[in-house]
Amino acid sequence: MAFDLTGKTVIIVGGAGYIGAHVCKAIADHGGIPVTFDNFSSGHEHAVKWGPFETVDLRDKASTLEAFKKYKTAHSVVHLASSIEVGIGEKDPSGFYENNVIGAFNLLEAMRELALTNLIFSSTCATYGETDQMPLLESQVQNPFSVYGKTKLAIEHMIQSYHNAYGLAYITLRYFNASGADSSGLIGEEHDPETHLIPIALAAAAGLRGKMKIFGTDYDTPDGTCIRDYIHVSDIAGAHICGLKAFANGLKSTEVNIGTGQGVSNLEILQMIETVTGLPVAYDAAPRRAGDLTRLYADPERAKEVLGFTAKHSNLENIIQTAWTFHRGVWNLK
Ligand code: UFG
Repeated sequence: MAFDLTGKTVIIVGGAGYIGAHVCKAIADHGGIPVTFDNFSSGHEHAVKWGPFETVDLRDKASTLEAFKKYKTAHSVVHLASSIEVGIGEKDPSGFYENNVIGAFNLLEAMRELALTNLIFSSTCATYGETDQMPLLESQVQNPFSVYGKTKLAIEHMIQSYHNAYGLAYITLRYFNASGADSSGLIGEEHDPETHLIPIALAAAAGLRGKMKIFGTDYDTPDGTCIRDYIHVSDIAGAHICGLKAFANGLKSTEVNIGTGQGVSNLEILQMIETVTGLPVAYDAAPRRAGDLTRLYADPERAKEVLGFTAKHSNLENIIQTAWTFHRGVWNLK
């Protein structure tokens, strides 16, 4: 029987964002009530469709606590709100530490004050850092290279401390590259500015921008470009449902990778976009982007063992097809 969340409230901090909106939809699809906390710094009002909304800026400790008090009987909290663009973090570490680390501290303090015990936290494969040990196991030493990865690792450590000292139950999901869009075409990736490879390449294919840049063609990989593990956002949302179920079954703490185990190069992404859209993607080779790692792909076994999670929507063609369908709608293309 499908896991039933009927009558259960789940607070989704960052629920108006790309991944957050898909998590809200999945919770509603399972009968639960997703309450979005967001400040629309990068999320969108139109993406809040499946439950109540509260304006919350985690950097403000007092108002964050007040918002949590309104939902103090919530079953769980999902924390997705953060600054995510790797390149921007290198240029503005101050904003990243404030938004990500201080924001997470204020969230944890509100949960502690109200004795809210179940937290699912969005972490990242960028916490591991440069290593030749691929696929990445959760036991891999974490030595992040980017400011982004450093802020996420600091939060992981805070969460572990709150678990040890105050009994917080947590599941830290280390996502690989979120991609694709819900099959309804209603929600998808909409960052402003957009820095991610797939939406930028789709815009180039659609003729909505000039040539794109491929950052680094001299990496030690078969085609010289970086390798990532692209996981469909609907699979990431499904991993949260598995996490909520694991709490119900008594799980108290874990860190798991959420990826497919398949590494795909930047040029392979462009090739698949050309196949799916039937349009060429014009690009120039450009210097490496600060903060980028050569290759990142997951060992997905632990997520299967501990959460019963496996990716179902993440074949590359489906990722590009669903992203293309969503963007065609946003861009009013025929
Ligand atoms: N890239 C280009 N040209 C572009 C944009 C990106 O060549 O115009 C390259 C990047 O340099 C990188 C690859 O495409 O080699 C993927 O870059 P993205 O910006 O799409 O994704 P990242 O891997 O940098 O980061 C994303 C999320 C993070 C997450 C990380 C995990 O932004 O939140 O995936 O790898 F942690």
